[in-house]
Amino acid sequence: MVDLDTIVSLCKRRGFIFQSSEIYGGLGSAWDYGPLGVEFKNNVKRLWWRDNVQLRDDMVGVDAAISMHPKVWEASGHVASFSDPFSGCPSCGRHYRADQLTDAFCPNCGAKMSAPKPASLMLEIFLGPVKETAMKTYLRPETAQGIFVNFDNVLQASRKKLSFGIAQIGKAFRNEITPGNFTFRTREFEQMEIEYFVMPGTDEEWHQRWIDERFAWYQKYGIRKDNIRLREHAQDELAHYAKRCVDIEYLFPMGWSELEGIANRTNYDLTQHSKISGKALEYFDEESKRKVVPYVIEPSAGADRSALAFLVDAYHEEEVRGEKRVVLKFHPELAPIKIAVLPLLKKNDRIVETAKRICADLRKRWFSFYDDTASIGRLYRRQDEIGTPYCVTVDVQTVGDEKTPADEKVTIRDRDTMQQIRVPVSALESVMADLMAERWAEVARQEPYRMSAAK
Ligand code: GAP
Repeated sequence: MVDLDTIVSLCKRRGFIFQSSEIYGGLGSAWDYGPLGVEFKNNVKRLWWRDNVQLRDDMVGVDAAISMHPKVWEASGHVASFSDPFSGCPSCGRHYRADQLTDAFCPNCGAKMSAPKPASLMLEIFLGPVKETAMKTYLRPETAQGIFVNFDNVLQASRKKLSFGIAQIGKAFRNEITPGNFTFRTREFEQMEIEYFVMPGTDEEWHQRWIDERFAWYQKYGIRKDNIRLREHAQDELAHYAKRCVDIEYLFPMGWSELEGIANRTNYDLTQHSKISGKALEYFDEESKRKVVPYVIEPSAGADRSALAFLVDAYHEEEVRGEKRVVLKFHPELAPIKIAVLPLLKKNDRIVETAKRICADLRKRWFSFYDDTASIGRLYRRQDEIGTPYCVTVDVQTVGDEKTPADEKVTIRDRDTMQQIRVPVSALESVMADLMAERWAEVARQEPYRMSAAK
């Protein structure tokens, strides 16, 4: 298993993730996604949205505001009980989560820690120019409440019947006592949440279906099955709203940790919002001719944690002809760049022009990248390290010269096997489409795409 420092350093070097405000010494609790990171994380979110919203007819989406009425957070129970126990060290001034301390002494200086007390995770904001008269509310600690308060709006507008779900991707904020482990625990992060509304009585069955579905989703995009597991919450660790909760855990470099929580939230939130707002949040069941408050199954994932898990899982080191090769073996749909187009000789204008033209054509369909800033061997290694599934190399034979008529073929190189096939430029797009569907072996067997040794 790769260590976290190796991942942090690769992410900085190659432009995946930078420390927030680094030139001012950095902010340990937030991270910025760079040019490759934003593509990669957008792919994670896009696949989640496609699979959970667009490919299902029982799901719709929303994009609610981050700032919400303060009564939302009273009703949800967050103001009263969204906290973690913390202990402070009177000697060195450090703070720790009390439930993560092994004894009563400071892990930093050994002094006796203060007695644990609850620390609210809610981050206050003041809406209005004069603080004294401004409306005090909170940055949302979960995206879920933006869904619950819109339940009736969505129901009326979409005319959905139970069972159906509402999905949302967006930022959430928590004043974590101990942020750390890179993007795993931060004070600002992104969630990908589903609130799935069902008839009371069918909730336990739906809960299990969502657990199975979400567990399979990570594996579909490459997470190895040895690195992912389910963990049932004990009764005493259930959140204030949950009847049952199962976490999907990933074997991160620091050990097994939560990737996603899938909770049965019962009718707690809709009931609470009805009570506090005075607005009925119900569903009329045609069959029984009665109004019900639906139960809610909530698969709640972190976009940053998912991205970190996909990154860690994709990381491979191997030795090729006595040299270390670092490869991110991303699923093609997750890879930030899908195809790199590389000229074999950058001093040959015709090769360069042709490579740029091929890149411009491919780009219309897949995010492609042209690079001529190093020798071909180095260019391949760079693309391996950022997980680009395919490199297309343009050489003298592609463009021809006075002596050799052009046969207009390019080389496609596979990131994982390093094997190569020769493909006519005219067939490049259709071959690429097959390869992106992960059919390298089938394509490589076909004439006239002869396969050559690894490079
Ligand atoms: N609405 C339910 C809810 O928010 P949660 O288990 O507190 O449940 C859901 O959070 C997911 O959000 C987690 O599984 C994790 O992936 C992500 N998450 C929570 N706190 C986080 C933090 N401080 N930093 C990064 N991701 C976090």
